[in-house]
Amino acid sequence: MYLCAANLREQPLRVAAHGAGMATFLNLTLINNMDKLFSIAGKVAVITGAGGVLGGSIAKHFVAQGAKVVVLDIRQEQLDARVEELRALGGEAVGFVGNVLDVENLEKVASDVVAHWGRVDALLNIAGGNMPGATLAPDQPVFDMNLADWKKVTDLNLNGTVYPSLVFGKIMASQKSGAIVNVSSMAAYSAITRVPGYSVAKTGVSSFTQWLAMEMALKYGDGIRVNAIAPGFFIGDQNRSVLINPDGSLTDRSLKVIAKTPMKRFGDITELNGAVQFLCSAAASFVTGVVLPIDGGFSSFSGV
Ligand SMILES: NC(=O)c1ccc[n+]([C@@H]2O[C@H](COP(=O)([O-])OP(=O)(O)OC[C@H]3O[C@@H](n4cnc5c(N)ncnc54)[C@H](O)[C@@H]3O)[C@@H](O)[C@H]2O)c1
Repeated sequence: MYLCAANLREQPLRVAAHGAGMATFLNLTLINNMDKLFSIAGKVAVITGAGGVLGGSIAKHFVAQGAKVVVLDIRQEQLDARVEELRALGGEAVGFVGNVLDVENLEKVASDVVAHWGRVDALLNIAGGNMPGATLAPDQPVFDMNLADWKKVTDLNLNGTVYPSLVFGKIMASQKSGAIVNVSSMAAYSAITRVPGYSVAKTGVSSFTQWLAMEMALKYGDGIRVNAIAPGFFIGDQNRSVLINPDGSLTDRSLKVIAKTPMKRFGDITELNGAVQFLCSAAASFVTGVVLPIDGGFSSFSGV
């Protein structure tokens, strides 16, 4: 039987005595090992965009699993509400108003986090999303693309992942440990109509994930891992109006999405939690540079 190195280090599998109790004993020991393997209890996780829908859901899951959560968001009101919500759940959480595009600001937050909790074990780069002005209208000529909004959306989604990764990654390099999880998109696999800036930026996030994973492992060792998730279609504040009609029915765009999703439904945001936890845990100790689709099969399906 093979057990991964991290698992062996944490709790070697003991050899049980012969007899009927052996199977039960081995099972219990394995379950115990599995719990430890996937545990994020006590880890300090910085979550950018945790004031929003996906980041908030993941933050709640993380505190429920015993992680210490740093909520970083540009919106003070959402940030305060989130920290209060996490504490009401019995979690340890602190909040910092921060802009993922402002390196000086991020460095200040990073030093405050280290002063508060002494380390950073995980960085979840969740802040991002599309903007109405960066979405082409169905019949809008390509050449009329709003370049100011193109710039805003590519900046937020790409540099808003790059800058925090460099600032918090530096702490991880000095610790020689840490996990970064970025958020890519289905738009990084194949073209999705009307969202040029978002698609280009998320493709950049996938590429940056691989690049940083390689550089961190080569230069700072195997304790630092960089991965991404690529969510399929989840109803959030940013895409609700393009996926759901005012009367609650699905838009034409939604029907196309569902037709190309073998599971024939949208995702529930809680279905991201397990994958993000896995990527931050010892269970993923040899996993770096991957972009994990969580999409009900959307990216695997040709549509035929
Ligand atoms: N909802 C989906 O279906 C879906 C699908 C694929 C990927 N995603 C990605 O998931 C991530 C989160 O999406 P969401 O639906 O939760 O969005 P959301 O708008 O609910 O949350 C985004 C959060 O980021 C914060 N933010 C924006 N700019 C910031 C900045 N400069 N600095 C710090 N914080 C900033 C916002 O205040 C907000 O709280 C995005 O990267 C999005 O592209 C979402």
